[in-house]
Amino acid sequence: MNDKVTIVGIAGGTASGKTTIVRMIKEKFGDDIVVISHDSYYKAHNDLSYEDRSRLNYDHPEAFDTALMIEDIKKLKNNEAIDMPVYDYTIHNRSDATVHIVPKKLIIIEGFMILENKELRDLMDIKVFVETDADERLLRRIRRDMVERARSIDSILTQYIETVKPMHEQFVEPSKKYADIIIPRGGENITGITILEEHLKHMMD
Ligand code: CTP
Repeated sequence: MNDKVTIVGIAGGTASGKTTIVRMIKEKFGDDIVVISHDSYYKAHNDLSYEDRSRLNYDHPEAFDTALMIEDIKKLKNNEAIDMPVYDYTIHNRSDATVHIVPKKLIIIEGFMILENKELRDLMDIKVFVETDADERLLRRIRRDMVERARSIDSILTQYIETVKPMHEQFVEPSKKYADIIIPRGGENITGITILEEHLKHMMD
């Protein structure tokens, strides 16, 4: 039985280093942590072809089933297990698999859009925004999407100009004002990450 659950939100633009920071926190807290990615809750589009799915705007709040994510987080907070959806970027769709997640003392909510939604924000005990220069994020995104998400350079650049960048400016950047802590330079900022980890330790005591 978890007496106390601490919920930390980690936001920041695409390829800002959220995953790296989450991995470092996980190494520190080990078994006490569960990580919930907003990306796991991208809406399924079984009715559309691959071509049509590849043209959708994945950087708008409406692309996510945030209501389901909020429901799942509330369950974890109430000490109930969940079956989390799994998203497959290579096919632009939700996979058939789910992951069984049991409640833990520390819940990390990770995603570029998580500070945009008030109901989600209000569930967080501490809100973090990872700040990394846009040119570095784009370079990382190109490398990652080609290697891990089966994308061509043309599709990455078109998507970046048509949706990723404008949506970042409309939704992600303005949501930074809700953060309690801003960590510049992403995963490279060992001092910033250590301060966050120390604070989390105190919150969990
Ligand atoms: N996305 C995509 N195709 C999909 C679904 C999502 O290209 N079918 C993209 C969206 O355009 C969005 C990005 O995935 O910009 C979100 O992932 P991102 O925040 O870049 O990845 P994380 O690993 O969560 O974060 P970080 O790189 O900071 O570790």
